[in-house]
Amino acid sequence: MIDSPSDLCILIVDDEQNIIQSLQRLFRTEPYTVFSATSGQAALDVIPGLKNLALIISDQRMPEMNGSEFLRRSREVSPDTIRMLLTGHADMKDTIAAINDGGATRYIAKPWHDDELVQTVRDSIDKYRLQLENRQQQEIIKVQNEELQNWNSSLKDRVLVQTTQIRNQLERLKLMSLRQHEIYYGVIAALAGLIELRSPISQLHAANTAALSVGMATRMGLGDEEIEIIKTAAHLHDIGKNAMSDVAFVSDEADMSDEDRRHYREHPVLAQTAIDMIEELRPAGILIRHHHECFNGSGFPDGLKGDAIPRGAAIIALADGCDRAMTGHLGVRAVDLAIESLGRQVGTHFDPHLFSFLKTEAHELYDSRYADSSATFTELEVLPSELRTDMVLTQDLYTPTGLFLMRSGTEMDSGSIGTLQRIYDIDPLLGKIKVGIPKVGSKH
Ligand SMILES: [Fe+2]
Ligand SMILES: [Fe+2]
Repeated sequence: MIDSPSDLCILIVDDEQNIIQSLQRLFRTEPYTVFSATSGQAALDVIPGLKNLALIISDQRMPEMNGSEFLRRSREVSPDTIRMLLTGHADMKDTIAAINDGGATRYIAKPWHDDELVQTVRDSIDKYRLQLENRQQQEIIKVQNEELQNWNSSLKDRVLVQTTQIRNQLERLKLMSLRQHEIYYGVIAALAGLIELRSPISQLHAANTAALSVGMATRMGLGDEEIEIIKTAAHLHDIGKNAMSDVAFVSDEADMSDEDRRHYREHPVLAQTAIDMIEELRPAGILIRHHHECFNGSGFPDGLKGDAIPRGAAIIALADGCDRAMTGHLGVRAVDLAIESLGRQVGTHFDPHLFSFLKTEAHELYDSRYADSSATFTELEVLPSELRTDMVLTQDLYTPTGLFLMRSGTEMDSGSIGTLQRIYDIDPLLGKIKVGIPKVGSKH
């Protein structure tokens, strides 16, 4: 780049030293450096060493090499320099030839007018500077364009590399989140499993309630996040029952003492309190708190009514009710019978809007489990004295004090019948026993 006009120079070529001197005097105060040569050849020799040679002023009449010949040749070594021919009237023919063949860009007639010559030189210097700056700008743009092109092609590569890195990172995150998901539900299952210590049925109850709740919520088109909360809450909804006495734990609410009933009614709040310290479980805690609210406001713990009951809690309440209603039914009609009994509580206990989503889910969950017994068994309640060896228990048996006696599914034989009859003789409060008996024509 040109920092100042003094970075530029001009070259005067004349075989007459006095002409050179008078021109040097004329340009002495001008802001550029003035060089001189006394022949065309001498000038051609020095030109390659002159940086930013803006202008050559050459006399036409010189021995060995005339001005137009010199200017033409000078163009080969310094093509951008502006060239002027200093000429008398007699040389006009040569001057026109010099301009035409491109050697000279203009001519100055002798004798010259000082002011005009100075001004002409200034104009030429300005023109040269503009050309030079323009070329330098073009160079910069060219370099920048090349850099941009290189950058663009390397950008493509870098984007490809980064996209691959991001994709790999996402895959790792996905795996981590799957693992976390597994751990999360492992912990939930472990928590729900605490209640299994009290009764194996309870864990199945939690899993059934969760399956029904998630099925209904999905069928209703709820979002993934809400369904996840419902699933967690359903698994844990009864963990508060761990605080109940053994007797209350296996009894129906209607059969409980006032004290046990009070404890029983605390179980939703106890469960909520138990998980409240885990911030991520708090939304599920709210659903757990309200899973015994009734549509008509007669439930507990807060007596919420209708739409005031959180939707997830109302879904869990219905699923919970359904799984409890399934106990005591056998055969292909088990689900229909349970749904029928729940139907009598729609509008009072259960939300009517949700009820339509239950039936299909219940069939999907229970039908295969109950199918085997369905073809062959009829369920009924019998006294211990009425037990026969072709009967099968259809519910777990506990003593009134909560002591586990016999698992559902146990086939009656003389030993088990004898055992049950002895225990019932001691404690007749046990009431009737639910059993299945083979239908007529069945092999079981
Ligand atoms: Fe409950
Ligand atoms: Fe429950």
